[in-house]
Amino acid sequence: MSADRQSGAFNLDPQTVSNREQAEKAVQDLRRRIRYHNHRYYVLDAPVISDEEYDRLFQDLQYLEERFPELASPTSPTQQVGGKPREELGLVRHPSPMLSLKAVYSQDEVRDFDATCRRELGRDQVEYVAEPKYDGLAVELIYEESGLVSASTRGDGTTGEDILANVKTIREVPLELMALEEVPLPSRLVVRGEIYMRKDEFNDLNQRRGESGLSLFANPRNAAAGSVRQLDPRITAARPLHIFVYEIAEVRVLTLTEQWQALQNLRAWGLKINSSRQRFCSGIEEALRFYDRLAGEREDLPYEIDGMVVKVNSLQGQQKLGVRQRDPRWALACKFPARQETTRIQKVEVQVGRLGTLTPVAVLDPVKIGGVEVQRASLHNLNQVETKDIRIGDTVIVERAGDVIPYVLKPVLEKRTGSEKKFNMPERCPVCGEQVVVSQDHTSTRCPNLDCPAQVRERIVHYASKPAMDIEGLAGRTTDQLMRAGLIRRIPDLYSLRREELLRLERFADKAANNLLQGIESSKKKSLERFLYALGIPHIGRHLARVLATSFPDLKAVMAASRESLQAVREIGPEVAGSLTLFFSNEQNRRVIEELLQAGLRLDNPLYRVKGRTRPLEGRTFVFTGQLSRWTRAEARQRVEDLGGRTAGSVSNSTDYLVAGPGAGSKLKQGRDLGITVLNEDEFAELIGSG
Ligand code: IVH
Repeated sequence: MSADRQSGAFNLDPQTVSNREQAEKAVQDLRRRIRYHNHRYYVLDAPVISDEEYDRLFQDLQYLEERFPELASPTSPTQQVGGKPREELGLVRHPSPMLSLKAVYSQDEVRDFDATCRRELGRDQVEYVAEPKYDGLAVELIYEESGLVSASTRGDGTTGEDILANVKTIREVPLELMALEEVPLPSRLVVRGEIYMRKDEFNDLNQRRGESGLSLFANPRNAAAGSVRQLDPRITAARPLHIFVYEIAEVRVLTLTEQWQALQNLRAWGLKINSSRQRFCSGIEEALRFYDRLAGEREDLPYEIDGMVVKVNSLQGQQKLGVRQRDPRWALACKFPARQETTRIQKVEVQVGRLGTLTPVAVLDPVKIGGVEVQRASLHNLNQVETKDIRIGDTVIVERAGDVIPYVLKPVLEKRTGSEKKFNMPERCPVCGEQVVVSQDHTSTRCPNLDCPAQVRERIVHYASKPAMDIEGLAGRTTDQLMRAGLIRRIPDLYSLRREELLRLERFADKAANNLLQGIESSKKKSLERFLYALGIPHIGRHLARVLATSFPDLKAVMAASRESLQAVREIGPEVAGSLTLFFSNEQNRRVIEELLQAGLRLDNPLYRVKGRTRPLEGRTFVFTGQLSRWTRAEARQRVEDLGGRTAGSVSNSTDYLVAGPGAGSKLKQGRDLGITVLNEDEFAELIGSG
């Protein structure tokens, strides 16, 4: 059965909806379909339609909600992109306390726990449910009449912070419960779970933050917590966050008897549980075996876990065992050994990144942490070094979490001898000697010299890397060699490299030279998506590069986009929009791009296809001047509006495109003065898909 039939297609072109009644029907239908596809994509990880088809549904819904504002709903899928910023996070009182867990580190203690449960419940064997202990941020979600009405942090266990607006941006959190199976929907449901960031996403995020001179998050948990506690939900929306729900704290009106059954119900209502890593255990030994398995898988899991939680399966049993102080007596955290070790800082080195960020790195007495030898650990930035008072020669605790770069947690003050030395950031860039710029709060130190060889090297290596322009034969070592020989100083220099020059270099035989030149030549045919990533714009990783290429027809349009039109794109928040406009307004960057285009880069953009019903020109304003040969002015305006764009009579700062035909006069001069993208008729035709 096709997905659309399953979700009940309602085939009405939103553009033809004329009255409220029709609109209401269409809106409800679209919401139902989008919810269904959200769940397939985000919760089940099994989409059944293409991104394009999904985007079309989404845009149709946005369109109708804009045209009929009275149909707005706080639980509409369109509300999943982040609302307005707030002054501060409010407080929410939990309907019942959010408890903590007793933590143990040995099998004996786990067996003791089991013995207590068996004794108190008067049974030979007790059933348990085991699952990972996630290292994220505990949250409580409340659904009323199926709609999400509250989301809060754990706080002190009694009262937490109101994070509803932020949690609504997490795609794995349904804004409305679904009836996927025969389980009736509860009229009120209070659930708890853990919000987390995946390790790879955390590393990407930190890399981008470092590159833009922002302070780094120490680990995925801090990153998730920091993202969820934002005052501006649009910032949360741009962060990759996930959830696993693991507990029902209250349900009206359904009789639950087992924890295992509770989990299956959560799934049936469209909530994300971690099915593949949950075990029903008929006794404690099974749970211990599962612990071993989790411990073995720990490094390979995409998210951080720090142990296993076992819970008594029978809810009656849980009631009977009750709570001692703040910990339930029916659950236990079986923790993994800590991945922290103590060692000494020999010295501190300073690395210079692609965007000039200076990062202090501690060189350590080598130490094994969780089976991996660690010799260097990040100190993040000067602010961290100062607030933690980390000194050279200090004995320190180093933590290594998953794939995350090891970092210095804190110094062991009792081990100080007095011979430790304070670390100072160098006043000059260790690579080019330029005076560095330190931010007021000391969280970032940067070398402002765009031509700093360290930056140039990293930029070139990034540009040539596989997911970027994929230039074979241009790894770090070759880049170093080419730079040392003075053959490249900037990215565009790559495109004027000559064979003879290369052959003169050491270890550069015919084959290597051919490979490199061939690689450079084929990079000219790479897509816009790759190029946007390759430019190394702060915050623009592979995913956002793709989002941009999907939303804009070509490089010109991306470069000309205003902050507002960028923010109109799903997944692009103020941080990213600001970063893009800043990058493209920089004279030096514009020159590099200009030269690359001159060199023959084509930057095809197959991701962007103009379709009658999509709104590719959404958020963009056009002004016409001069004569057009293919259309009358009115027709051209109509075309723009049909595609979601706006037209205006005069040029202003909010104009995105000036379409100029022969005979254009003062408007053209005005547009040029304001730096607005000017299109001739052919370019305009191409933009609107009639070229
Ligand atoms: S169940 C009665 N299950 O651990 C407590 N908690 O130390 C019910 N946690 O604040 C909690 N993974 O944030 C449970 N699979 C899991 C968990 C889990 C992580 C956290 C949770 C809680 C803390 C308690």
